[in-house]
Amino acid sequence: MDTPQAANTAANTAANTGKVTVIPTGAALGADIVGVDLAQPMDDATYQQIRQAWLDHLVLRFRGQQLVDPTFLAFARRFGTLDKAPKHAHGDVEDPFPEITVMSNIVENGKPIGNLGYGEAVWHTDMSYNETAPIGSLLYSLEVPPSGGNTGFNNMYRALETLPAELKREIAGKTCRHDSSRNSAGELRKGFKDVSDPRELPGAIHPLIRTHPETRHNALFLGRRPGAYIIGLPLDESEDLLNRLWAHAAKPEFEWYQVWKVGDLIMWDNRCAMHRRDAFDPATRRLMHRTQIRGDKPFFDPATLAA
Ligand code: OGA
Ligand code: MN
Repeated sequence: MDTPQAANTAANTAANTGKVTVIPTGAALGADIVGVDLAQPMDDATYQQIRQAWLDHLVLRFRGQQLVDPTFLAFARRFGTLDKAPKHAHGDVEDPFPEITVMSNIVENGKPIGNLGYGEAVWHTDMSYNETAPIGSLLYSLEVPPSGGNTGFNNMYRALETLPAELKREIAGKTCRHDSSRNSAGELRKGFKDVSDPRELPGAIHPLIRTHPETRHNALFLGRRPGAYIIGLPLDESEDLLNRLWAHAAKPEFEWYQVWKVGDLIMWDNRCAMHRRDAFDPATRRLMHRTQIRGDKPFFDPATLAA
């Protein structure tokens, strides 16, 4: 039973000038896009349908693709300028292109070839510790382990819509600092100090409620739980409020999980979805290439409340 892949294969003989088919996952977010071959040129009408589906479903999956880095980057560039890869925990990781981040547990000649290893990666928004954060990321699978290493996504519009009124009031107008010193696997990035007090950590400050510049909907914007700090609050109050926000945001009803096959490309909207990754057996291999679309500074637009 693999309709999306079958449909993709059928369409792979021609360039992308047809109508794309969007098949929602049925969960809180995510959809399969079928009928496109991302290695081939794509006309504007096809691109526009994909962009609209991305805004509507937050996470898109394209199965059965056969990409090399240049075709992967060419597709990603339709969505905007690409950001350079972030600083790695392992300084000797060499990415094949400046805009590609290798995500892998593979070690060659004693050196990791990529990031995030094989452990759990906690819920996060990519690179939100920067002043301007990517609007989205694309992740393409080259090798997948036989089990584990699934990637979860969650819908932060829904998390905000369903937030109890009292919590909504508590976070109105508040901002949060997003720790830049550690990655989603909890590793200290190269060149950063090991600081334990969240008030002392480096990183950008962003509103807790974020307006999506294209859909104009608001989303809860948390970044990562470890190292987060709500500006202006005593530490214990910040921790308590963050714990209550995360207990809500990490509910299964907002999630959808991707179980990877080789040739899957997933793209997500960092402005309204978070993601995490399950651990997997370190004796197995997982290799993904990621790129990220440059964004602007996250903001909250009070005019969205008037509507
Ligand atoms: C990423 C990421 C998780 C995964 O690429 O930004 O968090 O499943 N990856 O590899
Ligand atoms: Mn990530």
